[in-house]
Amino acid sequence: MLPVVNESEGTSIPPSSTWSYVERTIGEVMTRFDVHEIRTPILEPTELIARGVGELTDLVSKEMFAFERGKTRYVLRPEVTAPVMRAYLQHHLDQSGGVQRLFYIGPCFRAERPQMGRYRQFHQFGVEYIGTPEPVADAETIILMMAVYEAFGITETVLRLNTLGDQDSRPRYREALQAYLRPLRDRLTETSKQRLETNPLRILDTKVDAERRLLDEAPRLIDFVSDESREHYREVQRLLTNTGVGFIEDPLLVRGLDYYTRTAFELESPALGAQSALAGGGRYDLLAREIGSKTAVPAVGFAAGVERLLVAMEDASDAPVPASSPPDVFIVAKGPEAVRYAFELAQRLRKSGASVAYDMLGRSMKSQMREANRHGVPIAIILGKDEIENQVASVKTMSTSEQTRVDLGKIDQFIVDRL
Ligand code: HAM
Repeated sequence: MLPVVNESEGTSIPPSSTWSYVERTIGEVMTRFDVHEIRTPILEPTELIARGVGELTDLVSKEMFAFERGKTRYVLRPEVTAPVMRAYLQHHLDQSGGVQRLFYIGPCFRAERPQMGRYRQFHQFGVEYIGTPEPVADAETIILMMAVYEAFGITETVLRLNTLGDQDSRPRYREALQAYLRPLRDRLTETSKQRLETNPLRILDTKVDAERRLLDEAPRLIDFVSDESREHYREVQRLLTNTGVGFIEDPLLVRGLDYYTRTAFELESPALGAQSALAGGGRYDLLAREIGSKTAVPAVGFAAGVERLLVAMEDASDAPVPASSPPDVFIVAKGPEAVRYAFELAQRLRKSGASVAYDMLGRSMKSQMREANRHGVPIAIILGKDEIENQVASVKTMSTSEQTRVDLGKIDQFIVDRL
């Protein structure tokens, strides 16, 4: 028979307790910022992602897990911004007034070649501030993003910032960039040659050194943006600087999704190697219209890979991951009567709020005690044949090894008092 493995084989996967700790900590940071959770479906209409993210992006043209059922085409969501905006429009969240400040954590899917930090199923957490064009929203989503990493002791990061301008500046810049690059076409890679006609801004993103050198003299987007967009960008920078958030202005940062306008940013960690992006985001004032809204809905947000956060946590020595907590009580029981009693006692104590474990293999008392020790439980209840006959149990406080004999009629209350 063929072995059934998945792509994460060979990489170290943190235990579920670490995942829960990560999710809990993210939730706590969100609460401090008064940001509330939204859950959207894993399956979305292909149309939503294609129109929202952009037909010409790699994400839509190459990386979607898409399929058809009847006449409808679906996609396993590759990202969550377009789904959140769909939910916002469909459920009229604007009518609850003010700005919607939402976060999510959950699986996303991209048909990429798996490698360290890049998976076909991965997890994103992200934040969307919907309904405001103000630069404070841009700056605050960035600060919130940094606050999440700080909560895990990850401070060795680099924040790159750019503005992508607005609807008017982008087509003019696109033309200027094409005009600059067309005479250099022969020196471009095959991918960039294609992008030159379809999506020339993506060439700015190139990791090929020779191409990066060609771009040294290329026209800069910032010289094409309107005064309003430039002032918006400067204000975001001022707000960040005044709160002590360092950043690098990167005129070549364009992001891989088409919905961005104005602010774009990425957070990198040297711990990640080739897949250096911990998180990325920006403003997307035109997305709502792109997916069918009659009015524009200004919005800004970011998303981050949970798996990459876990790698960065391993690297940050002061990132604390608490061990999962042991049960309050372990019942050591030997012999059919004692096991039956232990079973019923466990259910009663659980109803009273205690977390209780016991042996299910009929092992010797010695190995059951060893297991209680290994779990690090504070209290062990010991029940053997003699104890059942005499209707008493030995209750052992594990930290002091002190043992008390307790009447079975009073055992429930005795334990509950000690929780
Ligand atoms: P993105 O840059 O495509 O942006 O993805 C955000 C983050 O998800 C990346 O920085 C990376 O940490 C993680 N990520 C992406 N693909 C993979 C993968 N195949 N395996 C592991 N991790 C991955 C977005 O998705 C936008 N929706 C962000 C946004 C929110 N913009 C505005 N609001």
